[in-house]
Formats: sequence, structure tokens, C-alpha cells
Amino acid sequence: MNGITIAIDGYSSCGKSTLAKHLASHLGYTYIDSGAMYRAVALYVMENGLVHNGLLDRPKLLQALEGIEIRFEHDPMTDKSATYLNGRNVEEEIRSMEVSQHVTLVSPIPEVRAKLVKLQQAFGRERGVVMDGRDIGTVVFPDAEVKLFMTARPEVRAQRRYHELCEKGLDVEFSTVLENIHQRDLDDTTRAADPLIQAPDAVEIDNSDITAEQQFVRALDVVLEVLARVGQE
Ligand code: DC
Repeated sequence: MNGITIAIDGYSSCGKSTLAKHLASHLGYTYIDSGAMYRAVALYVMENGLVHNGLLDRPKLLQALEGIEIRFEHDPMTDKSATYLNGRNVEEEIRSMEVSQHVTLVSPIPEVRAKLVKLQQAFGRERGVVMDGRDIGTVVFPDAEVKLFMTARPEVRAQRRYHELCEKGLDVEFSTVLENIHQRDLDDTTRAADPLIQAPDAVEIDNSDITAEQQFVRALDVVLEVLARVGQE
């Protein structure tokens, strides 16, 4: 056995990716950002004229779906993993507010989810993986050895996200960011296909009032306990 599978789910802007990357680098595991894949599909529909007045041309997306190729590759410029959409590095573009606003047009579509879940399962075939998202512990890897479920108060999450976007020099209003978080929480938890729910065997971490370091220590404790149990420490 070469490492375990660590599934991290939770609400938008909860610091899932920060924790997932930290755990992956500490353990020497592969980190996979499943949200980036939904963001890449959102960018695709925006760029290819499949959104009209805020409405998605669903039949056209279903036709195009097979030709949408998403992969992760090491970017030598940043020395980090980057998301590629049909051969183009879109890592920066998929983090924009506009993509965040369009992603809930595509994430509820069962055919989109089926395609991305299959890809995620293939990426995770190599053991020793940390993947974050909304349905990783419930749908993508229901047998993951470690499942973490992250929460934080919406205002705390919006403040962190707002700070991040301002640091990148983006001109956004705090109220827009908070509204987007509320909207995505609602969309994530109420969609019919693979909604965000806490797996019964997931360990919940509320990070509203703890630092990223305290959160890491808490998560690592959970991982080390499991590794000791499966004899891999
Ligand atoms: O984690 P994130 O904010 O980058 O995710 C972007 C969007 O993709 C988010 O609105 C919910 C959706 N998503 C999903 O439906 N399933 C996943 N496994 C990951 C993300």
C-alpha cells in the first residue's frame, strides 16, 4: 500500500485547498483540486458563447462535453500544479469572480459531474492523494481512509476571500463576495446531483476561530491516527 486517500469536503472559501496542499506536501502526496475542474468547465461555457443573459445553453454544453479536456500539469513558471483546459493554462483565469459566479450554472449538471467524477477517480488511482471538493468523501472516494469536513461562518469566509481577491488587485465589493458565498452554499447543498453533505464518517473541523496552523495540526492528528491504524506511519 502506497499511501492513503484523504478526502476534504466543505463549503466554499473554507480554506480547504490551503489545508489540502499543506497536508499533501507534508506527507509527500499528490494534491488534486476538484473545484478547479468545475471552474474550467465554467470558463469554457463563458468563452464559447454558451451563456446568454445568465442562462446556460445546456444542449450545446452536452454536445461539447466530450471535447472538453481538463488536466493538471506542473507549471515551471510558478513551480506549482496548474489547471489546463484544452491544452491552455487557465490557472489564473479560473480564480476570477466571474468564473465563481458562473460555476453554479455547470456544477449541478449530472453529465458534467459524471465526467469530472470519473476523471477525479482516475487521478486518484495512484494512492497517496489529497483531494478537496464537495462530494469527495461521499461520491468520488466513498472508501477514503480519511474524510475531513470543513466549515466556517459565512462572514469569516467572505472576509478571507475578499482579502485574497484584493491582494490580487481585483476590484470587488465585500457584499458581492458575501452574496456569492451564500449563493454557492445554497447551490452546493440543494442541487439534486451529488449535493454537499457531510459523510457520516467525516471528521468536522470548524475553522472560524482557529488559525490555518491550528487547523493543520488538528487535521494531521486525524491523518496520523489513521496511518498508525493501517500500519503506515
Ligand atoms: O472549491 P471551489 O470554490 O474552487 O469550487 C468551485 C465550484 O465548483 C463550487 O461552486 C462548487 C463546485 N464544486 C463541486 O460542485 N464539486 C466539487 N467536487 C468541487 C467543486
